Amino acid sequence: MSKGCLILGLFVAFAMVGLVSSARFNELFQPSWAFDHFTYEGELLKMKLDNSSGAGFSSKSKYMFGKVTVQIKLVEGDSAGTVTAFYMSSEGPYHNEFDFEFLGNTTGEPYIVQTNVYVNGVGNREQRLNLWFDPTTDFHSYSILWNHRQVVFLVDETPVRVHSNLEHKGIPYPKDQAMGVYSSIWNADDWATQGGRVKTDWSHAPFIASYKGFEINGCECPDAVAAVDNMKRCSSGGDKRYWWDEPTVSELSFHQSHQLLWVKANHMIYDYCSDTARFPATPVECLHHHH
Ligand SMILES: *[C@@H]1O[C@H](CO)[C@@H](O)[C@H](O)[C@H]1NC(C)=O
Ligand SMILES: *[C@@H]1O[C@H](CO)[C@@H](O)[C@H](O)[C@H]1NC(C)=O
Repeated sequence: MSKGCLILGLFVAFAMVGLVSSARFNELFQPSWAFDHFTYEGELLKMKLDNSSGAGFSSKSKYMFGKVTVQIKLVEGDSAGTVTAFYMSSEGPYHNEFDFEFLGNTTGEPYIVQTNVYVNGVGNREQRLNLWFDPTTDFHSYSILWNHRQVVFLVDETPVRVHSNLEHKGIPYPKDQAMGVYSSIWNADDWATQGGRVKTDWSHAPFIASYKGFEINGCECPDAVAAVDNMKRCSSGGDKRYWWDEPTVSELSFHQSHQLLWVKANHMIYDYCSDTARFPATPVECLHHHH
């Protein structure tokens, strides 16, 4: 990979016409811990949490910008106390991170989807949503789109959160660190379900999250290449034009803005921007985000 950033877009385009298979997982990802908690069933990957361990996987490479998508079917039945996460993260004390965290619940009660954004090592930007479907009965796609202008969290292609680049207001934006793509399932019964009041019922283990449809359409950044060079390679300029820098993905479309408004009006149950008890002074980016 001496050429630096490799565009996987073409490959993904092929994959979407029906070639998505279990090979996709192995191609892009690898288990990172608890290898015996993984099972492969054709194109499906299953990852389990039991009383001995959770499990997690990570992308083989790091990326800058683009879009990552995975289809997940969350733990069926009693999932109280469990958290399944899908996220991108860089490394180090000043890391950036874009998180989807799925907080389990007792049978028949709704999951909560928590999103968070870390910039330069600082998070505390939680939002929480209920979904408009039961995420345990079928696969749904969860995506993170990242470019120079915005980070967009999407559920079945509906935007549920936008974190905009407000550098012109002096607010730092994550754009100079390559990120890996990760997923994990673990026991978080100290906080996950109804504020930690409902504990994991281990008699209902194993808790299984299923995955398929892995797609990474971004700029691959080899570890051996200096961060600043990766940044240069992964940015449009000259005759190099990456799709994620196109105006059509630099901001939400009119339709997407309406979808986001609908999500906020009907499904958002917590937004750090309006938590005045926690943040007596409104976080700066909240003053400028107009979504
Ligand atoms: C873990 O679960 C297994 C299978 O249900 C059970 O046999 C074992 O006793 C449990 N171990 C602990 C430490 O609870
Ligand atoms: C679980 O269900 C309860 C009752 O419907 C609800 O209040 C809570 O927000 C749900 N989700 C979590 C993760 O606690």
